[in-house]
Amino acid sequence: MADGQGGEAILQVRGLHKHYPLMQGVVFKKQIGAVRAVDGVDFDLGAGETLGIVGESGCGKSTVAKMLVNLERPTSGSISYKGDDITKLSPKALKAVRRNIQMVFQDPYTSLNPRMTVGDIIGEPYDIHPEVAPKGDRRRRVQELLDVVGLNPEYINRYPHQFSGGQRQRIGIARGLALRPEIIVADEPVSALDVSVQAQVVNLLENLQSEFSLSYVFIAHDLSIVRHISDRVGVMYLGRIVEIGTDEQIYEHPTHPYTQALLSAVPVPDPDAREHRERIILTGDVPSPANIPSGCRFRTRCWKAQERCALEVPELAVPAVFRLTDSPAKHDSACHFAEEKHVVPGEEEGEDGAAGEGGVG
Ligand SMILES: Nc1ncnc2c1ncn2[C@@H]1O[C@H](COP(=O)(O)OP(=O)(O)OP(=O)(O)O)[C@@H](O)[C@H]1O
Ligand code: SF4
Ligand SMILES: [Mg+2]
Repeated sequence: MADGQGGEAILQVRGLHKHYPLMQGVVFKKQIGAVRAVDGVDFDLGAGETLGIVGESGCGKSTVAKMLVNLERPTSGSISYKGDDITKLSPKALKAVRRNIQMVFQDPYTSLNPRMTVGDIIGEPYDIHPEVAPKGDRRRRVQELLDVVGLNPEYINRYPHQFSGGQRQRIGIARGLALRPEIIVADEPVSALDVSVQAQVVNLLENLQSEFSLSYVFIAHDLSIVRHISDRVGVMYLGRIVEIGTDEQIYEHPTHPYTQALLSAVPVPDPDAREHRERIILTGDVPSPANIPSGCRFRTRCWKAQERCALEVPELAVPAVFRLTDSPAKHDSACHFAEEKHVVPGEEEGEDGAAGEGGVG
């Protein structure tokens, strides 16, 4: 099981599924299958922790994010916030909990209403939760928030188009902070920004985390950014987490073939290390989430697949070979044949990054 490291879990996700029905017919619609966008996700988020979630496009990251903030209802499974399953709360109880779990969206260009001033955008959550900021106090609160995210409080009457991409994402973050949440779910918060601006926004998120004791679920494609910000990382493939552990366990001691393949594609700045590293190139496309392979869902692209992989679903747990060891490879990995393979040359390891056996061509 994917436990948070130390401390109480503030969020516990168990058996989370989101299946979208696939319909056929124009007049007489009938369901012919389902898109299994999220298909059994489990994780814990510790208080004050950052959990990174990585995986290829379409693997279900945003769908998980939307369920965490209640923009989508799960097909099944539970999301417990401090012990209460938020998927089962009454609308009134849910409203109180939702205040504590806020989202920052990927695209600062489309997620801010162009016809609203920055002050109205950031202050809008107070319309739903007036108890957080009485009407007379809102302007001051919004100006405080602008200051907290590094924007001039005098910009309060400007419109989104008067800001750069990085500034707009700061506005999105200020809005996410308005209700003083405990958890922020950030779905690709820097992917739409220039590389030069990405680091500034990531640093801002890190500073805000310590200032306001926030817990983050941080979703991204970019494995380097996720490593930088995360305490633990979960790797998703086709609707499930296939490996999860501390950033050191995942990046230095990955045991799942999919994680190893993803990491082998991360750019390495040191030319010497680059020359000695092994690239694992995955063949084939990601299968459709409407037609998930039997057994291990990664088997159609896995260079280690054997007969057992088609028959038995590997559970996300510490693999038997590592169970009695103290190895950093002892972490949850959903593979029948999990083995450690060092694929990313560490800073101190230099060219030692070349891995043992062969990958796929
Ligand atoms: N409303 C919907 N109806 C049907 N299928 C959907 C719906 N929303 C998402 N999907 C499908 O669910 C799968 C997961 O989508 P999701 O947006 O969660 O992926 P993602 O990991 O966030 O991808 P990306 O990295 O591109 O943002 C995709 O195959 C997507 O097409
Ligand atoms: S269970 Fe089999 S197919 Fe799946 S990742 Fe492990 S070796 Fe590959
Ligand atoms: Mg997404």
